[in-house]
Amino acid sequence: MGAIKSVEQLEAYRRELAAAARPELPTVLVCFGTGCQANGARPVAEAFMDVIKEQGLEIDVNVGIKTTGCHGYCENGPLVALRPQDILYLKVKPEDVPEIVEETVKGGRVVERLVYRDKATGEAVARYSEIPFYRHQQRIALRHIGTIDPASIDDYILAGGYAGLTKALAMKPDDIISEVERSGLRGRGGGGFPAGTKWRSCVAVESDVRYVLCNGDEGDPGAFMDRSIMEGDPHSVIEGMIIGAYALGSHQGYIYVRDEYPLAIRNLTAALEAAREKGLLGEDILGSGFSFDIKISRGGGAFVCGESSALMRSVAGEVGEPRAKYIRSVERGLYDKPTVLNNVETWANVPEIILKGADWYASIGTEGSKGTKVFSLVGKVNNTGLVEVPMGISIRELVENIGGGILGGKEFKAVQTGGPSGGCIPERLADLPIDFDSLTEAGSMMGSGGIIVMDEDTCMVDVARYFTGFLVEESCGKCTPCRDGLPRMLDLLTEITEGCGGEEHLAMLEGLCDLLTWGALCGLGTSAANPVLSTIKYFRDEYEAHIRDKRCPAGVCKALITYHIDPEACTGCRLCAKNCPQECITGKRKEPHTIDADKCIKCGVCKDVCTFDAVRIS
Ligand SMILES: Cc1cc2nc3c(=O)[nH]c(=O)nc-3n(C[C@H](O)[C@H](O)[C@H](O)COP(=O)(O)O)c2cc1C
Ligand code: SF4
Ligand code: SF4
Ligand code: SF4
Ligand code: FES
Repeated sequence: MGAIKSVEQLEAYRRELAAAARPELPTVLVCFGTGCQANGARPVAEAFMDVIKEQGLEIDVNVGIKTTGCHGYCENGPLVALRPQDILYLKVKPEDVPEIVEETVKGGRVVERLVYRDKATGEAVARYSEIPFYRHQQRIALRHIGTIDPASIDDYILAGGYAGLTKALAMKPDDIISEVERSGLRGRGGGGFPAGTKWRSCVAVESDVRYVLCNGDEGDPGAFMDRSIMEGDPHSVIEGMIIGAYALGSHQGYIYVRDEYPLAIRNLTAALEAAREKGLLGEDILGSGFSFDIKISRGGGAFVCGESSALMRSVAGEVGEPRAKYIRSVERGLYDKPTVLNNVETWANVPEIILKGADWYASIGTEGSKGTKVFSLVGKVNNTGLVEVPMGISIRELVENIGGGILGGKEFKAVQTGGPSGGCIPERLADLPIDFDSLTEAGSMMGSGGIIVMDEDTCMVDVARYFTGFLVEESCGKCTPCRDGLPRMLDLLTEITEGCGGEEHLAMLEGLCDLLTWGALCGLGTSAANPVLSTIKYFRDEYEAHIRDKRCPAGVCKALITYHIDPEACTGCRLCAKNCPQECITGKRKEPHTIDADKCIKCGVCKDVCTFDAVRIS
């Protein structure tokens, strides 16, 4: 079908797709997100196609095979979901495919060895929706991911896609802005600025040209929320941007994506092309008289280019450096024209808000933080991955119910939220609700949604040093507090972790934090104090142990620890000696071994390989 010329034609097309669809027939959904592809999803999908073809199943049971976006559970990939049984198989290999086809597709039975097993109880859970990782989630931004093929605009339309746009086109632009304001949607890219307020300020500026931008830079280490949406459901972002552009009277949009996200770029490019062919982008969208198009702008992967003014300069082909904040981008943004920049997840929420209404959206979440938030849950937790939960869920619920508790039964020590600009919150505050304001009050921030769970083996001084090191690397160097202050902060933290810190180091760190917070030009510098101040606030005793006792309580800082072997626990199995890169472990078979501390480089290999827990750190 060519271009769709009206809202009515789009609805008729949706009905046609629904009439042709047969949801009761078996469907195999192979996850084709970046994580699963890296784990070998392509040969698995090919094996399904071969077996289905060999057995002539298209005719017999009408099996459909679909490749989808990331289900968020990448560490268990390749994932295969089966409909209509609602079964999820983990770590599927091509050789498992004949059995899956025979048992599940044809026989309706579960292949037990491929299903999720609770790490604590060993209990098998076959149903997708009952796996704890998914059971506690509420998916709005991720609503289609894992169920639709991102390369198929028909899949998106069949799932209700572009219905938000058709509703919006029948509304007055001002009413759309009011709806977004009333929904309470706050920007998901870090700052949490109310989206409706931003849009309202932009339309208030007199101009014949306005731009609508999507921030898909996602520079936080470990974060992949936005990548997953761009890869797995690109039309949700495009639809959100068209609605925003219509409300703002904009005719040109840009999606800024880092070049390190090739699949996101590929899927977005294909989705833009498909939307143009269907008359959903370009001239006279759905016969409404409104015209708008979107270009992709590829970033070089600098963290600072995620900052709004740096991003706009980068889109314009200039050096991606931030500018002073007194110039607001809603007044003078891209090419000096009024511009609205929103994050990928923010845009992906917009169609649902318009379709289901502001009241529906505002009924989810907390007083000041409405809706849901996508988090990338990583670190020392049993289930890591991408999760979407209502705002207001507690840190503990997230870590225990969805994350399945701390890895290896260790003690839960802290969570780091908000990426490099965020802070660390200790376990004793884990009942805190996760929302913009609570996290900021606790000295951290929501950021774009990275959550790193830390256990007893994490050194909080080392964590502060790591994030400060990241920011030193990523600072653009334009302003002095950040260019010179951050490396000095890193020096001080390094000296503490090396046992050379004195009492004055803490005061100097606090002074530099103050300087950066008040003196730096952009958010990279003004929030750089968070990792340091939050760890000093909640884990001052650890700093003091490094400074006064020259001791790293978590046993991480190399200069302050030594490895030795407990002769009582050592069985003389020789595994550590065989693996030590320095060959500094000696001992006879079946007799306790010893480490030559002078030669040891503290790599930790011996501790990792010893199955008798005989290697100790002191
Ligand atoms: C150093 C720095 C990096 C940033 N990186 C991102 C990013 O990768 N993605 C993003 O959406 N926002 C990022 N932001 C926030 C943006 O400046 C901006 O506030 C956001 O894109 C606006 O969209 P929102 O209101 O929908 O959150 C960053 C901010 C700073 C200071
Ligand atoms: S705070 Fe840092 S990243 Fe931001 S403008 Fe200054 S030097 Fe550049
Ligand atoms: S691996 Fe453990 S038990 Fe085996 S020799 Fe080394 S310390 Fe002893
Ligand atoms: S820490 Fe590394 S270098 Fe030291 S004894 Fe163990 S394996 Fe060898
Ligand atoms: S890529 Fe498959 S679950 Fe993330």
